[in-house]
Amino acid sequence: MEWVLFACSSANLSAGGFHRLEAICAAATERPHMLIRLEDMGRSLFEALDEMRRGGARAIRLQPIGLPFPESLLAWLPGVLADWSLRPVNAAIGVTLGPEPSRMDAGPTEMLRDLLAAPSTSVENVKPALGKPGWDTPPDFDFHLLVCTGPRCQMRDAASLSHVLKAECAEAGIAKRCLTTTTGCIFPCNKGPVVAVYPLGDWFHVPDRAAARRLVREVLCAGRGLPDLHIHTARLSQPSQHTTPHRSTIS
Ligand code: FES
Repeated sequence: MEWVLFACSSANLSAGGFHRLEAICAAATERPHMLIRLEDMGRSLFEALDEMRRGGARAIRLQPIGLPFPESLLAWLPGVLADWSLRPVNAAIGVTLGPEPSRMDAGPTEMLRDLLAAPSTSVENVKPALGKPGWDTPPDFDFHLLVCTGPRCQMRDAASLSHVLKAECAEAGIAKRCLTTTTGCIFPCNKGPVVAVYPLGDWFHVPDRAAARRLVREVLCAGRGLPDLHIHTARLSQPSQHTTPHRSTIS
């Protein structure tokens, strides 16, 4: 039996929204299935494929969902699936890629018809929401961590990295001094998962929780380098380009 791996591209999907989508997927098929998102948190594509193989899958269909599914991801997925299926441990497993949803006539049209037929809600008595207090100034922070959650870092198990970093910062007692932001692809995908730390201008390869902990403890708290994980320094932060001390720590 073919297993189905539903994949969406929704970095901003809440946990509740993701669970609702899981329920929709469950209602759509009786075959063994799983839902992943290709950015931000949760299982990576390879983790999900590996889990299906361990669960006994011998044929897997990757089915993109979401309207529209990003063209760049769609173009990239066949090669990524080929990468996984060419690994010797996956040799007995057939992998296919389903069609992009917006190119199917019936499904999306029916869904939109149902949506248009459902009652809508008036906003007549709703309080206007733009300009609320608290959204005027940036937080007071020392370090800005840019955590790549682009699809290639996600594939390299960047799943949940920003959450792991926030937890490590909290454990080290520096949560309030670090602003952690997720980004799309910032280019050195082959060295992913990537975290860029400013104002240091240093970029790091952060493959797992142990590396995240070292980044927090060594770089942010102690002001030391992390040569084995360091992959890049922004030009203005390079020693020949500045006159102020290169490293700072949280005091
Ligand atoms: S996807 Fe992270 S650097 Fe490209």
